[in-house]
Amino acid sequence: MITGRPLFTTEQINDKVAELAQAISRDYAGREVLAIGILKGAFMFFADLIRALKLPVTVDFMVASSYFKTASTGNTTLHYEPRENVKGMHVLLIDDIIDTGVSLNYIREMLLAREPSSLKICVLLDKKERRLVDVPVDYLGFKIPNEFVVGYGLDYENRYRNLPYIAVFKKET
Ligand code: IMP
Ligand code: MG
Repeated sequence: MITGRPLFTTEQINDKVAELAQAISRDYAGREVLAIGILKGAFMFFADLIRALKLPVTVDFMVASSYFKTASTGNTTLHYEPRENVKGMHVLLIDDIIDTGVSLNYIREMLLAREPSSLKICVLLDKKERRLVDVPVDYLGFKIPNEFVVGYGLDYENRYRNLPYIAVFKKET
């Protein structure tokens, strides 16, 4: 169980997703977007966000991992790459949270090498204090303090992803 306090309610998340989708739809008007979700953490945010986009959208995913329990290992492992053609596309990378920035930076560089027409990054949460690599974030939901959070796709050891809100994770003692 989570004994930590809730950080963002379902309603706050829904409002933020609508706000982000509106900004993205406006910025990309008249263009098609290749939305790439970073699994697993982004799956819920990704699904809600792309549903709210008023744009033609194609979808793909990447599977990356860098975390062990509550600490980043500093290495990014890719388990699945986009099968969609990235070259010439307007790519929107969608992730749950940016922490050290190591994984998003790695993924970004890798996609840029495939020559998309443009590449932008949308993340729901930003733990800025922990940043090691500077990554340009174009669309941000919430800035958060340096605490480990779970819910709405985010996990601790693959649990709590199904919570409909975001909470600070505290181990029960
Ligand atoms: P980074 O490479 O350090 O920026 O790590 C980013 C990834 O680590 C995110 O996409 C998450 O999957 C995971 N992560 C970072 N902070 C948290 C957290 O507080 N809760 C759950 N997962 C996290
Ligand atoms: Mg992730």
